[in-house]
Amino acid sequence: MNDNLEIRENLPGDAAGIDELYVTAFPDEDLFPLVRPLLDLGQSVISLLGLRENSIAGHIIFTLCRVEGGEDTVALLAPLAVAPALHNQGIGSALVQTGFNHLEQISIDHVFVLGDPAYYGRFGFKTEDKVATPYPLPIEWRGAWQSMHLRDGGATPEGKLLVPEPWRDIALWTS
Ligand SMILES: CC(C)(COP(=O)(O)OP(=O)(O)OC[C@H]1O[C@@H](n2cnc3c(N)ncnc32)[C@H](O)[C@@H]1OP(=O)(O)O)[C@@H](O)C(=O)NCCC(=O)NCCS
Repeated sequence: MNDNLEIRENLPGDAAGIDELYVTAFPDEDLFPLVRPLLDLGQSVISLLGLRENSIAGHIIFTLCRVEGGEDTVALLAPLAVAPALHNQGIGSALVQTGFNHLEQISIDHVFVLGDPAYYGRFGFKTEDKVATPYPLPIEWRGAWQSMHLRDGGATPEGKLLVPEPWRDIALWTS
């Protein structure tokens, strides 16, 4: 279904198109204060764009982080957005899987996400209870904090997830 989907790392010239995608995919949320600074982090994020016939179809960011007291680099998946007209065509899944491939290439094994388990469960994410979010989540969101290992047998860290500045906004974790 995704034969004509191109996935590549985003380029500086893609910024306006990415902004537009987030306005349509998240009409009730303003993600500019998160997405733009994340893209400015450069090497500390993996930012992938999905394109259909040269138009932006979807976008995903993985932020490279650490867990308090640990030495391994881990990844935080978010945000993920697909153009509403193109939902349910496998674009979100293709972006997630391609992101996993990029992470494996740089030996990052453990991925975290705060999102709907009904969607992220299909990739293998499971409720995370050893690594804490940077700010305590509202009780009704607890099941949305998930993680997975990309390889069998990865070590499970314990502690708080240490995130770079764009993620240090309590509102991102509580509302
Ligand atoms: C969530 C999102 C990225 C999925 O992208 P997509 O390209 O439509 O997803 P895929 O085609 O890979 O997967 C479609 C499947 O996921 C399911 N799905 C999509 N969103 C879902 C959700 N929020 N909860 C549960 N299942 C969901 C669809 O029902 C479909 O299920 P099926 O395979 O059993 O038919 C897209 O709906 C989107 O951009 N939504 C708005 C922004 C958003 O909520 N982003 C996630 C932030 S955590």
